[in-house]
Amino acid sequence: MGNLSESELRGRLQGVGQEHLVQFWGELDGGARAELSRQIAAVDFEQIANLFSQGAGGCDWAAMARRATPPPAMRLAERQRGGGKFSAADAKKRGVEALRAGKVGVLLVAGGQGSRLGFEHPKGMYEIGPTSKASLLQIHFEKALAAARRYGAAVPIYMMTSPVTHDEQTEFLREHKRFGLPEDDVVLFCQGTMPAVDAKSGKLLLADKGSLFLSPDGHGGTVAALAASGAIAHMRRRGIEHLFYLQVDNPLTPICDAEFIGYHLLANSELTSMAVPKQTPQDRVGVFAMIDGQMQVIEYSDLPEDVAAESEASGSLKFWAGSIAVHVFGVAFLERALALKNALPFHIARKKVPFVDASGSVVQPKEPNALKFERFIFDLLPHAKNPLVVEFEECEVFAPLKNAPGAERDTHEYVQRHIVEQHRRWLEAAGTRVAEGASVEISPLWALDAEGVASRADRPAGLNRDTYLRA
Ligand code: UD1
Repeated sequence: MGNLSESELRGRLQGVGQEHLVQFWGELDGGARAELSRQIAAVDFEQIANLFSQGAGGCDWAAMARRATPPPAMRLAERQRGGGKFSAADAKKRGVEALRAGKVGVLLVAGGQGSRLGFEHPKGMYEIGPTSKASLLQIHFEKALAAARRYGAAVPIYMMTSPVTHDEQTEFLREHKRFGLPEDDVVLFCQGTMPAVDAKSGKLLLADKGSLFLSPDGHGGTVAALAASGAIAHMRRRGIEHLFYLQVDNPLTPICDAEFIGYHLLANSELTSMAVPKQTPQDRVGVFAMIDGQMQVIEYSDLPEDVAAESEASGSLKFWAGSIAVHVFGVAFLERALALKNALPFHIARKKVPFVDASGSVVQPKEPNALKFERFIFDLLPHAKNPLVVEFEECEVFAPLKNAPGAERDTHEYVQRHIVEQHRRWLEAAGTRVAEGASVEISPLWALDAEGVASRADRPAGLNRDTYLRA
């Protein structure tokens, strides 16, 4: 539709009941007209009409949750006892082999803004290091680099951005020389967008007179964006067979944990996920569950309160397996998923979306007025062969930065405290005395994990004050 004349454009829009999108055409200059018609050309109006007719609540998650059962999982206690289907030692060995062979890459989703934190930049640029002030991106990139050095093989990072965060993150990484990663080991790709519609009429909303209101299509957009951007071709060229997936907000993510990758390989799984036990029914994490014989994640907003509160005879929560959004994907599986049309359904959410009304003024709604459409990557679970859930200890793997100060958890202060506590545990376990109250932080390039700390010959005997151990 990009090159259509005005009357052709109007004709097409009338056919789908969306002619209001060009009502300010007369006020736009040539460039704005071209941009608006490009945006309109990219919309699949039939898909939007179908989604609108489903409406919010198209999928009855409450009913599904009520017939769900807890997922089979490799529980932590069992792994520590040496029980379970696969031993931790075997898993670690397999994971190390894959890493040494250079078959593992990192898939980092970083499309989000830090607006919930009052930070008007891409969230990955947020400076979270307690002493170092390292950004979230620096921490993740240095972990990938540290893993590459440990195993003697590159660990490329595939990082997904969104239209609003792409340029700023590209520039940030350029400025910081990709935190030491070689140029061919960093592939940035941008996710797609979806329009929002008025919840009553199904009409697309205008953000201003010359543009649609568009928002990122959810991290489920990763699959299509990976293929369209050429990232999958890059993986093939580099021999990457498995992807360690993480969200940018969690600096505790154990990037390329060999044991976790090893379980994925031993189980011949296409999608392996990390879980931590939920502490309370209200924890804002999705839960892994079996629904009609298939593994799924039920999002926290879709899990009815009474189901979330159900407990087992032992007293622990029935749906204990909280998703921290850390997975290992087979690259071949992602390619297969791409071919499965509609493998990922859209989740429909009612949101407050500012828009331009018929008189041309911007309306700031006080109540949710619009439907937004997002895909979630974990909806690939039911399509994966041998999906596997592996439990880890929360304090070692999960402290996400989500909330502004004042919230109970997942704030700046909460995340920094967890980083310091973890690094203190690693040092103390290796025999270093750390004075009470000293804020200690370890750069991933000094030591990647507890094992890395223990193996450093130059490990200090004691630390009395705030310290950043860096390479
Ligand atoms: C998410 C998960 C939840 C999980 C929790 C763990 C979803 C829908 N839910 O919740 O199951 O327990 O994390 O921390 O994901 N992102 C994009 N593009 C998008 C949308 C999101 O790149 O279009 C990225 C963001 O940058 C962020 C991540 O995905 O890193 C998570 O998104 P967010 O909306 O913060 O999810 P949560 O509600 O925290």
